[in-house]
Amino acid sequence: MKSEKLIAELRTERLLLRQWKDADLVAFGAMNADPRVMEFFPGVLARDESDRRVDRFRAQFLERGFGVWAVEVPGVTPFVGFVGLAYPHLPPPFEPRVEIGWRLAFEHWGKGYATEAARAALDAAFHIPEIDEIVSMTAVANFRSRRVMEKLGLRHSSNDDFEHPGLPEGHALRRHVLYRLSRNF
Ligand SMILES: CC(C)(COP(=O)(O)OP(=O)(O)OC[C@H]1O[C@@H](n2cnc3c(N)ncnc32)[C@H](O)[C@@H]1OP(=O)(O)O)[C@@H](O)C(=O)NCCC(=O)NCCS
Repeated sequence: MKSEKLIAELRTERLLLRQWKDADLVAFGAMNADPRVMEFFPGVLARDESDRRVDRFRAQFLERGFGVWAVEVPGVTPFVGFVGLAYPHLPPPFEPRVEIGWRLAFEHWGKGYATEAARAALDAAFHIPEIDEIVSMTAVANFRSRRVMEKLGLRHSSNDDFEHPGLPEGHALRRHVLYRLSRNF
């Protein structure tokens, strides 16, 4: 089903969240190949897998009108990473919740970009009538990302911690935390 309400762009004080350009693929590929960035994922991504992610992000915008935006710092850097909304592939009770997520190239960490971009994405999400709750999840040890969740006002309950079904039993990253924010918080 094609969405008629495309949220193509969001602007913040310093950032532009925008649709993906072919010119982003090289920088996106480099970010996904960086072990520092991918520390809390099963591994780095090869360039073809990285490119396929962008295909999926574009398809999700066409289908739902929202998705994972490329993040630009206008006048400074054309691509610093992504922030966006997705339906994660997880078993009940986690589906079909909308997840917010982020990934920035290492050299752009520590400037508050993830939180600033995610605030805009959260605000946009809660203007979509069918979205009442946003979740965010990560490996237990990803305290940097958990800090972003906390700064955004998402709340963690250990009752929601879970074993990520995409990772094998015993994998160091399998235990995940889930943070939530409701529309009427
Ligand atoms: C997570 C990520 C997007 C954060 O980007 P960022 O722009 O640096 O985030 P912000 O600057 O908005 O906020 C980071 C916060 O984490 C804090 N922080 C940094 N390192 C930390 C650590 N090791 N433990 C706890 N908090 C930490 C920062 O101090 C900051 O909080 P503060 O504003 O209270 O000082 C970025 O580190 C990244 O891309 N990581 C790799 C990908 C990833 O793990 N994505 C999330 C998967 S769910």
